[in-house]
Amino acid sequence: MTFSSHSRFDFGELASRYDSWYETDEGRRHDAAQKQAVLALLPKHATGGRCLLDVGCGTGHWSLFFAQQDYEVTGVDICPEMIAAAQACKALHCRFDVADAMNLPFLDKSFDVVSAMAMLEFISDTRRVCAEMIRCLKPGGRLVLGTLNRLAEINQRRVAEQAEPYVSAQMFAPEELCKLLMLFGNVTIRVTMEEMAVQRQASDGPAPVKHGLDDRNESGAFIVAMVVKP
Ligand SMILES: C[S@@+](CC[C@H](N)C(=O)[O-])C[C@H]1O[C@@H](n2cnc3c(N)ncnc32)[C@H](O)[C@@H]1O
Repeated sequence: MTFSSHSRFDFGELASRYDSWYETDEGRRHDAAQKQAVLALLPKHATGGRCLLDVGCGTGHWSLFFAQQDYEVTGVDICPEMIAAAQACKALHCRFDVADAMNLPFLDKSFDVVSAMAMLEFISDTRRVCAEMIRCLKPGGRLVLGTLNRLAEINQRRVAEQAEPYVSAQMFAPEELCKLLMLFGNVTIRVTMEEMAVQRQASDGPAPVKHGLDDRNESGAFIVAMVVKP
């Protein structure tokens, strides 16, 4: 594969079993919490368009979710094995191609939303990749980003156990991510609360209103951030 110095980990070998995490109880719980946090930030076609670029899309798990939210999704990933797995799903309103986030093969201002889920921590030059993603956004467009929280106990345990790919990741704390993203526009940050997502799944009631740094929940497993391009 074209694994390069632009990435911290080669996902090629993991591609065929990557999605099995989402099928475990723990994976389902984390996925529900992450999607809840993303939905709270994802604009409802803020710039009037529905073109979404999913950078580091992997097997297309999140691309499919964004397509279900009525976006036309282009997913790109540096790993051909991950892209082959994504293409095999033949998801409606999604197309997938191999591309490096360091040099995105798209014109300036061509997308309404750019997403990057669990990707930034596996990049060697995060500032450059953020600049690339912002370049591809229309003015007023949104960058929606999710990344593993360095302060979360689960992630610290994964690193202590030398578990891959976590031990290769450069994880952010919420404040660190905020500082990086503020270079590019107005930033909103949330941290996932896995227990609340479970409660929400179990009850059929309204979504819990409490999440994010406002509630001093800085140690949930996943940070979700949105940047509005000026
Ligand atoms: C942890 S996986 C996340 C996949 C998917 N977004 C998800 O959440 O299921 C990280 C992905 O980032 C991709 N990646 C790493 N470096 C990249 C780069 N320079 N350009 C594009 N994708 C990259 C990897 O190949 C991998 O598929």
